[in-house]
Amino acid sequence: MVGGYVGSSSAPDMPPRANIPQPPSGQRRTSPEIPLGDDDAPAGEATNGATAEVSPPLPFARPEAPSTNQRADQEARSETGPTGRPMPCLPDPKPVTEHGPARVISMCNQKGGVGKTTTTINLGAALAEFGRKVLLVDFDPQGSLSVGLGLNPHDMELTVYNLLMDREVRIDEVVVPSGVPGMDLLPSNIDLSAAEVQLVHEVAREQTLQRVLAPAIEEYDVILIDCQPSLGLLTVNALTASDGVVVPLECEYFALRGVALLKTTIDKVQERLNPKLEIDGVLGTMYDGRTLHGREVLERLVQAWGDKVFHTVIRRTVKFSDSTVAGEPITSYASSSSGADAYRQLAREVAVRCLDA
Ligand SMILES: Nc1ncnc2c1ncn2[C@@H]1O[C@H](COP(=O)(O)OP(=O)(O)OP(=O)(O)O)[C@@H](O)[C@H]1O
Ligand SMILES: [Mg+2]
Repeated sequence: MVGGYVGSSSAPDMPPRANIPQPPSGQRRTSPEIPLGDDDAPAGEATNGATAEVSPPLPFARPEAPSTNQRADQEARSETGPTGRPMPCLPDPKPVTEHGPARVISMCNQKGGVGKTTTTINLGAALAEFGRKVLLVDFDPQGSLSVGLGLNPHDMELTVYNLLMDREVRIDEVVVPSGVPGMDLLPSNIDLSAAEVQLVHEVAREQTLQRVLAPAIEEYDVILIDCQPSLGLLTVNALTASDGVVVPLECEYFALRGVALLKTTIDKVQERLNPKLEIDGVLGTMYDGRTLHGREVLERLVQAWGDKVFHTVIRRTVKFSDSTVAGEPITSYASSSSGADAYRQLAREVAVRCLDA
């Protein structure tokens, strides 16, 4: 079940696409360009110059790219970050004496392996280091978030599946400590895949996660939902339960493919189910600053998403895989590593942007 799910019982696989005529093969581009969206073309504009009416829109207006001179000027005046913009000096979030109400944030991208789970664990752990009370929700039947925090998927008595499907089960019966002080976890395993099918028959099926999370809102400062790589009913539930969305995007060639579809889904949920939903930020992950390619992708991201792109970028390092094997966040596994520092920096940025801290 992909995109265009919201409000439709027949759940079409894809949103309507423009019937874009292709140029003759002799005129086709030979050198690939970084794609902009699903159709590798700006919204409303067909590749041959004709107007297409139903292409998904670009997320944001594209500002003019700075010229080389402007860029050099900018760099001379301030420290330029990897996104090509001046790096702001972000304070540590102020300590809090009371907790709640929580901001609920979904990590969402239907593309697999882009760093959703890694970001959920490490952003959560970094926010907990700054004194925030954090609840992580494993909303992916792969259960990677739970495994990444050292849980055995076969040893779970109660999971998010039970919480969603059995009204007798209370959230405090399912919550387990994550091993990180100040951070709890709602675990999942493969059972959750059945929920996607069973929820279809429920009344208010899109609001099920929102309903079961409600008692936790006053307890925590932040609730992070790790979505599965799809735009099906579970993801729509996550978006309906959320105040904000963070979109992790791998800094590689195909990163922007599918982003327009994700934006369309977010817009539909916002319009029909959850008016308060907003995009908290787009996060470049697995960035390799040594390659021109990585820098170009990041530049393209900023052109397409403007200020929604976090200044913080997560570089590619094997430490992330190592910490997953160890079953703990990088902030404790390799506390002084650049990866741990990057997620602390992201936590500062998230706090300033959307936690009013
Ligand atoms: N910055 C990084 N550098 C190197 N490896 C990374 C980085 N971030 C994540 N990884 C690794 O990439 C793999 C995929 O990451 P992750 O599981 O977080 O992606 P995901 O988007 O949650 O995937 P899925 O869509 O399958 O749920 C993991 O093995 C993880 O350890
Ligand atoms: Mg994942």
